[in-house]
Amino acid sequence: MDQEKVIVIDFGGQYNQLVARRVRECNVYCEIYSYRTDIEQIKAMNPKGIILTGGPNSCYEEDSPTYTKELFELGVPVLGLCYGAQLMNHILGGKVEKAPVREYGKTEVFVDKNSPLFSDVAESTICWMSHFDYISKAAPGFHITAHTADCPVAAAEDTSRNLYAIQFHPEVLHTVEGSKMLYNFVRGVCGCTGTWRMDSFVENAITEIREKVGDGKVLLALSGGVDSSVLAALLAKAIGKQLTCVFVDHGLLRKNEGDEVESVFGKDGSFDINFVRVNAQERYYAKLAGVTEPEQKRKIIGEEFIRVFEEEAKKIGAVDFLAQGTIYPDVVESGLGGESAVIKSHHNVGGLPDYVDFKEIIEPLRNLFKDEVRKVGLELGLPEYLVFRQPFPGPGLGIRIIGEITAEKVRIVQDADAIYREEIAGAGLEKIPDQYFAALTNMRSVGVMGDERTYDYAIALRAVDTVDFMTATASNIPFDVLQRVMSRIINEVKGVNRCFYDITSKPPGTVEFE
Ligand code: XMP
Repeated sequence: MDQEKVIVIDFGGQYNQLVARRVRECNVYCEIYSYRTDIEQIKAMNPKGIILTGGPNSCYEEDSPTYTKELFELGVPVLGLCYGAQLMNHILGGKVEKAPVREYGKTEVFVDKNSPLFSDVAESTICWMSHFDYISKAAPGFHITAHTADCPVAAAEDTSRNLYAIQFHPEVLHTVEGSKMLYNFVRGVCGCTGTWRMDSFVENAITEIREKVGDGKVLLALSGGVDSSVLAALLAKAIGKQLTCVFVDHGLLRKNEGDEVESVFGKDGSFDINFVRVNAQERYYAKLAGVTEPEQKRKIIGEEFIRVFEEEAKKIGAVDFLAQGTIYPDVVESGLGGESAVIKSHHNVGGLPDYVDFKEIIEPLRNLFKDEVRKVGLELGLPEYLVFRQPFPGPGLGIRIIGEITAEKVRIVQDADAIYREEIAGAGLEKIPDQYFAALTNMRSVGVMGDERTYDYAIALRAVDTVDFMTATASNIPFDVLQRVMSRIINEVKGVNRCFYDITSKPPGTVEFE
């Protein structure tokens, strides 16, 4: 695909994926590379623009991440953000030092509207600052285009060389006009026309898949999650019956989810593919009987998935390709793309099956962010409830049932969760928390129902607001909604007589309970 492309050079800051996402929201394709990437490789990609990200270091220190000066002489527009801005000035002869006042948080910035980055931005605008160091003297040739009460060089530029430096973070939403600034850079300064669109992505991807697969057979493990569902739809459209989807129902899905997946991809659905549903519930419950240790539960669920999948694959016989729903954050986080990589360990189930007979792996969604995957899903006609499904862990309800898993406990947590979701939707709150679910605590306590004493389980309700799931806070669900949920769960779900709302942040808590 001959896309106009912007390259993000990653210096290890926490918002680096956001930079790329914001650029793509301007319909400009963009990839993240570590600052260790050789300049020749960057040149070979023929970028229309380059963005240097923030990072945790001080650019004037000996071992800090840096880049060759040649980058600024390529004639390609460069935008430095935070650390990137400091590094640009440092390398080109300006001065960066420890700031007398550390700026952190929303800050009023005064901009020069003559700058191509700020022409349509308010003269005084709120931006997100997070820095210890500052540019005390801009590099020769640069002139200052923004300042704050504490920061004399909040932005600087040399338009003759197309070099731009911004001390704050336009990529985070707290920077009210940040998207405009990035748009002005990629669409204005870099001259990108905006060719990155999901409808053309679908068209191109279908052509590429057809070319690559030829008349070969493709096998996909379908989990019912967003990524694998979108991938299934894309492959179905590209190669139809050459695709076989194996859907393993491990009995730890949300209520009705197995049937929903089957109704979309099975024989009564709208796709002409081979769909195999394996009802492995009993097998999983047997393996999990008596197991209480969270890591062991996760391991059993993950391994069992591979075994079941392998058995099905054996029945199908040799295939040419195994399709995987890898998406761009997986690529970046596993260290293949950017720098922030190694911070977050991967906790997806599975890994690769050992005994499936295939020649090659295909990953058609590999370059997409999650929101782009969703757009592709809508393009392909998938139902909204599937496309906008909340994150759901691979081990499923297995890690939302504290302690031993039994069929009875699965029923309880499924029913309670379904009620919770119904009530949240009924209150029009579905889009407010980023994730919400019911979990089953391992605690039983005394209650009274009618005139009877009960001794039943407690349900925990969780709802979190988060940007990246690495940190999260409990969502402020209105108390009357929580009360309605509690009352319905206790009345309608046999075996429950108490409800808690979990107000723990992450850290120190995690989103899931195990
Ligand atoms: P934690 O519990 O680590 O969850 O705070 C953060 C986000 O990751 C999801 N999660 C998982 N996703 N496999 C997954 O695919 C897993 O094993 C897993 N564990 C947690 C969780 O739902 C939340 O969105």
